[in-house]
Amino acid sequence: MGSQVEQLRAWWKEGSVYQVYPASFQDSTGSGVGDLKGIISRVDYLKDLGVDIVWLSPIFQSPQHDMGYDISDYRVIDPPYGDISDVDLLRDKLHERGMKLVLDLVMNHTSDQHEWFKESRKSKDNPYRDWYIWKPPKYDADGNRCPPNNWQSHFQGSAWEYDEATDEYFLRLFCKEQPDLNWENPAVRKAAHDVMRFWLDRGADGFRIDVINFISKDQSFPDSNQQVLRGSEYYACGPRCHEYLKELGAILKEYDAFSVGEMPCVHDERELLKAVAADRGELSMIFHFEFMDVDHGANGKFSPKVWPLSELKTKVNKWQRIMYDNNGWNALYLENHDQPRAVSRFVHDDPENREASAKLIAIFLAFQAGTPFIYQGQEIGMTNVPKEWEMNDYKDIDCLNHWNLYKDSADENTKALLKTEYQKKSRDNARTPMQWDDSPQAGFTTSGTPWMRVNDNYKQINAASQVKAPDSVYHTYRRALEKRKEHKDVFVYGDFELVDEENDKIFAYKRVASNGDAALIVCNFSKSEVAWPSPVKAKEVLVSSDGKKLDHVTGDRIRLAPCEAIALLL
Ligand code: GLC
Repeated sequence: MGSQVEQLRAWWKEGSVYQVYPASFQDSTGSGVGDLKGIISRVDYLKDLGVDIVWLSPIFQSPQHDMGYDISDYRVIDPPYGDISDVDLLRDKLHERGMKLVLDLVMNHTSDQHEWFKESRKSKDNPYRDWYIWKPPKYDADGNRCPPNNWQSHFQGSAWEYDEATDEYFLRLFCKEQPDLNWENPAVRKAAHDVMRFWLDRGADGFRIDVINFISKDQSFPDSNQQVLRGSEYYACGPRCHEYLKELGAILKEYDAFSVGEMPCVHDERELLKAVAADRGELSMIFHFEFMDVDHGANGKFSPKVWPLSELKTKVNKWQRIMYDNNGWNALYLENHDQPRAVSRFVHDDPENREASAKLIAIFLAFQAGTPFIYQGQEIGMTNVPKEWEMNDYKDIDCLNHWNLYKDSADENTKALLKTEYQKKSRDNARTPMQWDDSPQAGFTTSGTPWMRVNDNYKQINAASQVKAPDSVYHTYRRALEKRKEHKDVFVYGDFELVDEENDKIFAYKRVASNGDAALIVCNFSKSEVAWPSPVKAKEVLVSSDGKKLDHVTGDRIRLAPCEAIALLL
């Protein structure tokens, strides 16, 4: 199988991706919101970091109920971000530097302010009625009106919204301003294809595609028996999902475009593999959620769960093997705009260990098999928001909807526990403005009031000081990405093997090219020093988070400092 993988070379396998969250990246106008000109001013920073593909979270016209994941026009840029000429300029600046531009396609749903939906809700016989999913109410024994089934929204409450005008409910798996499109309707699919072509013709190099495995719903819309996210078993990789993905895949192939599909709520890995296996013509890669769910408790995301390192090992190993053995491809990510900061979540972000932990994440991630994704700020070790923040510092609809369910009714103890969970897992953790330097508002904006509060630790953690310090988190990422490219046969196309699987402190793995070249990555996830019995002899230290030289790793044991990681060429 391995040699087959090698033959399937592709530009998007060899590159790495940087995700920009436009609202929080760089404000160029003093409005308090990031914008496209701000992104353009930072292209050289991204080039120097060594990333190849820049993915922008949605920049399209939107009422911003869900930070642009509620689009009201797919061909117009939301005015606070700039206009289409700024996208053209950004595209050119990236292309001049040999980099690619990836846009965020959100087509499971639109905004309720999209013209299609405005028409659809007007009357039952409107030509756009069938572009969305409408159902008549049900009535209980007492004659009370109820939603058509018990499916739950990802943002709390029922997934159905009642619309008085026509006395029907529409489906909205996210917030009530995000009605789900009806992909059963060929006109909807054609509209999605046209949007893709519009941006590909304009020079976009591909798409990140939002909750793409939700587009096909079980048309009998049955009630669900699940405890958490009721209904997702009837639409996550639903009946016609792969048929629709093949249609998208055919267009992507015409343009040699890149695609990464977001695919939550799937527990059968065969379904995910189908979407990316090289011979199926669907997507380049997908985001699965197994690492993201590692700390979700019995009642979902905002309930606590303690997880051992062995769980992470099992999951990483599973996905490395599945993709390698079946000609699929991994999207390697530990952070994005929906997740807390990796350094706070997977390692230790206390003052003594934070910097080392952030470097560990870099080395741990960048050398696995797949395309690495770096989320803005990850490369400088940005952390979760401080524990002291009040609820009014939080902005995310998901977190605030959850809080609204409890704030007036729960006891003080429960509320305190919830606040602890929000500080650990709210999407807000990733959305604080990028910390560029130690000037007011971290150099993100000249406005005194950024749209979201800047993390209080920006004086210690910022890009300017990271770029200056040769052993910083930033330079660890830069070096790791450089070495990954330099040894492509090992790190891009080579096989993966867990080492010392039983060890509960050390996560070690080997990468092996088909010509026998190999590397060993050793990560100490614990806060203690470890003398690790090294099974191999190293030829070169590729990257070390602790400044180790070859002499330090030639004995029978490798001494690893707390949270240290090292990548060795064998
Ligand atoms: C995806 C996005 C998230 C958004 C949701 C609804 O999960 O990443 O930010 O809220 O879809 O579009």
